Amino acid sequence: MTNPKNPVVTIDGPGGAGKGTLASLLAKELGWHLLDSGALYRLTALAAINHGVAAEDEETLCVLAGHLDVRFVAATEDSDAQIILEGEQVESAIRAEEVGKMASRIATLPRVRDALLQRQRAFAERPGLVADGRDMGTVVFPDAVIKFYLTAEAEERARRRMEQLKQKGIDANFDRLLSDIIARDERDMNREIAPLKPADDAIMLDSTRLTIQEVLSRMLDQMRQQGII
Ligand code: C5P
Repeated sequence: MTNPKNPVVTIDGPGGAGKGTLASLLAKELGWHLLDSGALYRLTALAAINHGVAAEDEETLCVLAGHLDVRFVAATEDSDAQIILEGEQVESAIRAEEVGKMASRIATLPRVRDALLQRQRAFAERPGLVADGRDMGTVVFPDAVIKFYLTAEAEERARRRMEQLKQKGIDANFDRLLSDIIARDERDMNREIAPLKPADDAIMLDSTRLTIQEVLSRMLDQMRQQGII
């Protein structure tokens, strides 16, 4: 499975705990590759919405997931990272709430998850990979060199989401955001296949009262203590 020459760090946890930001900062700090596995579920969801495929149509969704025409373009000095789906830039389209909801519905389908599995494992290349998601440490990279499980209280995650939306000039309702977050957690934690849960050997981190920099320092400290870096 994971080649020890291509070490993998996994960061799992519920939406809004800061996984994405931390995974990208950690990957930058280490000079390693980055896998935003949620983006693959969101891309499959967006492709399904664009092609009018229903969330229950496992057969077609699994073909879509297996044949996603997608390119990830890394950030450079002058430009942000880009995701190109069927020739179109979709980085902001896949972040929409409705795409996230559809992603979490189709993520319950075993054959869709299976279709995305090899694609995710292929990201483990030299010099190493930081992978963020829900089942990185439990299913996709069970022999990762270090596994983190990042949580934060639901109210704090809703508050952060509200802040992000405000910065984009979008007005949001706190109670609705909170109930969406709780519903998404429920669905992710209670699905039969690859449910959201910490791996037995995961290091638990709660970001509710910590800044991103504080969480990043703790992750790096753990990696130093274990002789990984
Ligand atoms: O992390 P993000 O919010 O982008 O993920 C969108 C949805 O994709 C999640 O709610 C979850 O249902 C699904 N997902 C998953 N397994 C992963 C990553 C994301 O099931 N490894």
